[in-house]
Amino acid sequence: MNDRSERAHWTGRLGFVLAAAGSAIGLGNIWKFPYITGKNGGGAFVLVYLACITLVGLPIMMAEFLIGRQGQRDAVGSFEALEGKGSLWLLVGWGGVAASFVLLSFYAVVAGWSFDYILKSATGGLSGKTAEEINALFGELVAAPGRIVFWQFLFLAATAGIVIGGIRGGIERWSKILMPALFLLLILLFVGGMLSPGARAGLEFMFRPDFSRLTPPALLDALGHAFFTLSLGAGTMITYGSYLEPDSDLLALSVRITLLDTLVALLAGLAIFPVVFAAGLEPGSGPGLVFQTIPIVFAGLPFGSFLALIVFILLAFAALSSSISMLEVSVAYLIDEKGWRRSRATVLIGSLAFALGIPSALSFNRWSELKPLFGRTFFDLFDLLVSSYMLPLGGMFVAIYAGWFWKGGEAKNEAAALSPRPWIFPVWRFLLRFIAPAAVLFILLNQAGVWR
Ligand code: TRP
Repeated sequence: MNDRSERAHWTGRLGFVLAAAGSAIGLGNIWKFPYITGKNGGGAFVLVYLACITLVGLPIMMAEFLIGRQGQRDAVGSFEALEGKGSLWLLVGWGGVAASFVLLSFYAVVAGWSFDYILKSATGGLSGKTAEEINALFGELVAAPGRIVFWQFLFLAATAGIVIGGIRGGIERWSKILMPALFLLLILLFVGGMLSPGARAGLEFMFRPDFSRLTPPALLDALGHAFFTLSLGAGTMITYGSYLEPDSDLLALSVRITLLDTLVALLAGLAIFPVVFAAGLEPGSGPGLVFQTIPIVFAGLPFGSFLALIVFILLAFAALSSSISMLEVSVAYLIDEKGWRRSRATVLIGSLAFALGIPSALSFNRWSELKPLFGRTFFDLFDLLVSSYMLPLGGMFVAIYAGWFWKGGEAKNEAAALSPRPWIFPVWRFLLRFIAPAAVLFILLNQAGVWR
């Protein structure tokens, strides 16, 4: 077990903010946020989403950083350092390790598709094709198990290749390359979107407040997504927080990370929708939006293949900076609790995640009719289990722990542990004690179908 002096730490604030923002900014920002915003009433929804981020997401993120920074160990070990061996709170750490591991296994499948599309757009495979042909290409890709398993493997190998380099030499170094590149590409696409004839329609789709569409399901979408997009409840932010120095201002750091995540989500929508509307198409969601609508739209534009290439590189970078944070949770556990070498831990967890991801990859082809539970394929089951249950539950227990049970010493030091601004502490604690658990409970009850 490492003591504080020999434990790796981030080189500074910038490295940490970019790494944690890299975790938060992922597939969710690019293909989910824009769509749910448009669906749920544009500007009105953005306001509700911002409220959810601020009142629920931000306090839980600060709590995760706090647990990690005070514990100075992995997600399980940090709870042990704070509460002692055999404490039931260790289960929250364990839940995080399990959630991020399972998440990594199926996230890698989808992320791998972006590699295939990078290759397609770089070699001209998307140009000069009709909409039907481009739609068919996506079907052909996911119908080919060998091909998607190959890309899934390559994506995991890249993830492991970064994590093996450690906190400074791997995760931080690569975050400092991937994130600025991502911002640059996104701004390029955003300018493209604003210059497109559909700019106005795109802006209206995302921002015109339509309060009549702000229904209870919209509220849940905002809450659930605020939660997912910040990578909460999976032990990730606890693990990243454990590489922080003791004097860090958790509020200031969390605000920066949250702002970057929100900015990227908004820019992604403003880059994508104008071109979609200019082409007279209706925006869909998920894989269809990214792998079908976008290539179709760009096929008809000057420099279309180049723009499509940018989108898929952007997607790959966003996914990679998230997947390294998922892998790091289990790797940190093996290093801190079992004394393993980083290289051995990374290769083992990476291989296990690959194996567990194979049923998810086969869900799109060979096993598409295999529905082991609730009429869902393996991919949908893992997604449901992690995104709808494990992450919200993990986040709720983090909130309850930090709000009600965390014994940070004397009241004065507790407040200082969070931020130099003392008034932050009571506000934070109130949100964690009452607002965050109630909000997550609301999500969970809904997912369990209580009022359907
Ligand atoms: N935030 C990521 C995205 O928007 C997804 C995510 C959810 C995640 N939970 C996580 C990433 C935990 C890393 C760790 O795509």
